[in-house]
Amino acid sequence: MTFPVTRLRRLRRSTVFRRLARETHLQPSQLILPLFAVPGQGVEREVSSMPGVFQQSPDRLAERAREAFDEGISGVLLFGIPAHKDSEGSSSWQSDGVVQRALEALAEAVPQMVRIVDLCFCEYTDHGHCGVLTTGTPESITVDNDPTLENLQRQALSLVDAGAQVIAPSDMMDGRVGALRRALDAADHGEVAILSYAVKYASAFYGPFRDAAESTPSFGDRRSYQMDPSNRREAIREAALDVEEGADALMVKPALPYLDIVADLRRRFDLPLAAYHVSGEYSMLHAAAQKGWLDYDRTLMESLLSIRRAGADWIITYGARDAVRLLQRGWEP
Ligand code: PBG
Repeated sequence: MTFPVTRLRRLRRSTVFRRLARETHLQPSQLILPLFAVPGQGVEREVSSMPGVFQQSPDRLAERAREAFDEGISGVLLFGIPAHKDSEGSSSWQSDGVVQRALEALAEAVPQMVRIVDLCFCEYTDHGHCGVLTTGTPESITVDNDPTLENLQRQALSLVDAGAQVIAPSDMMDGRVGALRRALDAADHGEVAILSYAVKYASAFYGPFRDAAESTPSFGDRRSYQMDPSNRREAIREAALDVEEGADALMVKPALPYLDIVADLRRRFDLPLAAYHVSGEYSMLHAAAQKGWLDYDRTLMESLLSIRRAGADWIITYGARDAVRLLQRGWEP
């Protein structure tokens, strides 16, 4: 049946009709807030390319997390910017490391909030790559996969000892989910979950994050370990391997330019699916809003809703608290 019998506008005639017909909903409990820990006390420095995002010392970070949890946000994803960097990123597994300190402060200030840690080395190595390097000519140097797995295991165990409940490896080494599961179980940490950055593309949308985390590689780029943006079938292979290796939840990153991948993974796997609305996706909304070209609130909500519509259960976003504020004021599409 077609027009004039069928008229789709019938169910759009009022706010209440639209509510009744609405297919996708966004809730505070589905949002995860990324936070950046730096050493010290009372430190709170705004990241210039990311309005509303701060590098914070553990005490301040815990206060902000407490507020976010009270607003209804379920979890935080922690990144650390250490005082010292070296070639293997050893400050990431020190018991008094910056993320370890932040975890302790969080467990004290807001014990029920889910503590997720990003597991990687790019913030901790002096060369800015996501693991230890191979030797070789400047053109052939890359991240050495298997030795990096051992270091990831060390980093994970140290973070779990400090109170991490979910480990989120973002390094893109092969075999890392299995290696982490084995290390956690061997250390009697069967309760710790793995949220795998299963499908992480080598994306230019991470630009502002590298200001926030001070993790720009000093040479080369990450294309020998992160995925090629051209590939769709490969995303299924990455995710399937991580499921086999024992991942508890999967992630696609970035989100908006990769909604086809979010939808593919939603169809193929029954694990909870997260999407990371990354720094560039967030910063470009602010930049356009500052010029008066876009409405930040509305474009943020439309972005998050689209990510949910594509099939993500959880959204990691720097705009989590803005979104909750709008939802609490009764925002509707
Ligand atoms: C660490 C990591 C990155 C991001 C999350 N974890 C940066 C990168 O891979 O270069 C990006 C997050 C964002 O852009 O918001 N490897």
